[in-house]
Amino acid sequence: MDNQDKMSGEEASQQRDQLVKRLLQSTMGTFDIFTIYIGDRLGFYRALADNGWLTPHELASHTRTHERYVREWLEQQTVVGILEVEDPGIEAKSRRFRLPPAHAEVLVERDSLNYLAPLTQIVVGATYPLGSVLKAYRTGGGVSYGDYGVDMREGQAGMNRATFLRVLGTEWLPSISDIHARLQADPPARVADIGCGYGWSSIGIAQAYSKVIVDGYDLDEPSVKRARANAQEAGLSDRVRFHFRDASDPTLAGHYDLVTAFECIHDMSDPVAALRTMLSLAGETGAVLIMDERVGETFTAEEDELEAFMYGFSVLHCLPAGMAEQPSAQTGTVMRPKTLRRYAEDAGFCDVEILPIDNFFFRFYRLKAVCPAEQQN
Ligand SMILES: C[S@@+](CC[C@H](N)C(=O)[O-])C[C@H]1O[C@@H](n2cnc3c(N)ncnc32)[C@H](O)[C@@H]1O
Repeated sequence: MDNQDKMSGEEASQQRDQLVKRLLQSTMGTFDIFTIYIGDRLGFYRALADNGWLTPHELASHTRTHERYVREWLEQQTVVGILEVEDPGIEAKSRRFRLPPAHAEVLVERDSLNYLAPLTQIVVGATYPLGSVLKAYRTGGGVSYGDYGVDMREGQAGMNRATFLRVLGTEWLPSISDIHARLQADPPARVADIGCGYGWSSIGIAQAYSKVIVDGYDLDEPSVKRARANAQEAGLSDRVRFHFRDASDPTLAGHYDLVTAFECIHDMSDPVAALRTMLSLAGETGAVLIMDERVGETFTAEEDELEAFMYGFSVLHCLPAGMAEQPSAQTGTVMRPKTLRRYAEDAGFCDVEILPIDNFFFRFYRLKAVCPAEQQN
């Protein structure tokens, strides 16, 4: 008899009621995501942050949208506690609403480490190809990264942008003393940034280290185009270049002092081939650094918010995207340290060190081409 069978009728009703309650709460959470998406995409939050208290008509004028829709959205956002209303008792059309400054940091300040509007873009993007995702579950096929559309790309880039520009080159890399020293030294260090997306990690490294030359590589062409535009806008196109390349292509050659892969190894259909490329780009003297999700060492049945977050993305996006190219390693977002160790070993690395960089979402791995014992010989 299993636990379920041993449960009393009362316990079973409690368990059922908890799920009912949870689903109702999840519905509200889902509405938050989609209505924040509307406010972000249509520029409602930006206009409210710039102009203070606004009536529905004023917000509609600022954003060239339809007043009736805007009023519904303003009222909904107030009821859920994201906006404030000046006087709820007056006629609907005359009510004025505002975005509290503390909420503006989360919803419009793209340089803030608390900026989360792009998360709604990722979640909405993850639902675009749901029909194809269902089909993939039945057939074992995949769904290409491109099918998730611009929201997935932009959301991903927007979520990591501030961290890459503000933390990567000022805290994370300086904490690895030999890499930090090399990035500051002459001759100028060369960095390869694999799976660079919109290029913010490459740009962040170049901004923090004024001499380095960075090559970003990504196999998603629209991302590479945006990365080039971002480098140009940052005034860095002379030192930061982006290339439309598949990291698992063995003809990708070069010699680099540092080879990085930020939040992308788990997305790759052939991570071992990509790691093999990274090993060859770094040679025996370069460093290889990987940032990926800080999931647990093993699967457990215990409730864990970070695992729940990562599994959510995996089920909807990362696993199907990683299975778009076949054969696939079928990794998914929840890439545990032992999986990365296995990939690294298969690619020819001799050791994987977990770096003491403290971050809620990410774990940092340093892959070694040569082990200390070999170095002494
Ligand atoms: C989750 S995004 C991460 C982007 C960026 N590094 C960041 O942290 O914002 C994963 C990226 O890996 C890229 N990618 C996946 N497989 C790749 C491969 N084999 N070669 C190069 N890039 C790849 C995707 O196109 C996508 O831009």
